[in-house]
Amino acid sequence: MNETMPTSSMLLIAGTDTGVGKTWTGCALARALRRAGRRVVAVKPLETGCLGPPAETEDGVALARATGQVGPRHALLRFRDPVAPPEAADREGRQIDFEALVHQIREHAARADVLLVEGAGGLLSPLTWERNAMDLARALEARVLLVAADRLGTINHTLMALRILSLVRLDVLGVVLTAPGRPDSSTGSNAVAISRLSGLSRVLCAPRVEDPEVSSDCVQEVIEWLQLT
Ligand SMILES: Nc1ncnc2c1ncn2[C@@H]1O[C@H](COP(=O)(O)OP(=O)(O)OP(=O)(O)O)[C@@H](O)[C@H]1O
Ligand SMILES: [Mg+2]
Repeated sequence: MNETMPTSSMLLIAGTDTGVGKTWTGCALARALRRAGRRVVAVKPLETGCLGPPAETEDGVALARATGQVGPRHALLRFRDPVAPPEAADREGRQIDFEALVHQIREHAARADVLLVEGAGGLLSPLTWERNAMDLARALEARVLLVAADRLGTINHTLMALRILSLVRLDVLGVVLTAPGRPDSSTGSNAVAISRLSGLSRVLCAPRVEDPEVSSDCVQEVIEWLQLT
């Protein structure tokens, strides 16, 4: 597996699916990086299901709160309907300019040691009708932190995602498996299985933790993976 290549401070947090813990991981990592004295900015380029003004429940807002960044304080583009971004944009008669998003993210990166970007949905979920999270990682020259839920089925989902990341030659920093609200009999054993089957040593199990400060302890290992100088 293409596990290491510490060339960039750009990290794309991608998921095997929606709701697997990308934002939880991003917020925990942001807090851990801050605590380590790093300047961190987290960006949610596209967020859907956003009604009215930016709310505390939105990913972009939660990420900004975790980093303490001046801006952006919410997702770069927000859409009303809780569907894939290009579908949500079509419903509002709006366009998504992928190149402009990449440009904005790069500008935010200029004032950060580490820039975290959270994709929308899963790895192949569309960001526009032409581009997905892997295209964003490629455009930003970002490494990928793959997040999945530590439950039955995750071996298949995670191996499929790792296989396609390898095929398109994106650098995988590692995998974070987040503990589900309701553990099943596979929870706790999936990380070892994924490591064994993929050859990737960097597979971390994150326990179920609500306290933001404690959550940052849980992802401390990811900072070591980053090999920041
Ligand atoms: N390790 C964990 N401990 C406690 N809660 C968690 C953990 N991981 C995920 N959660 C919770 O599970 C829910 C889904 O996680 P999260 O919002 O991070 O997923 P996501 O992949 O970002 O989803 P989306 O695709 O909607 O952006 C959230 O309520 C989150 O707080
Ligand atoms: Mg999220």
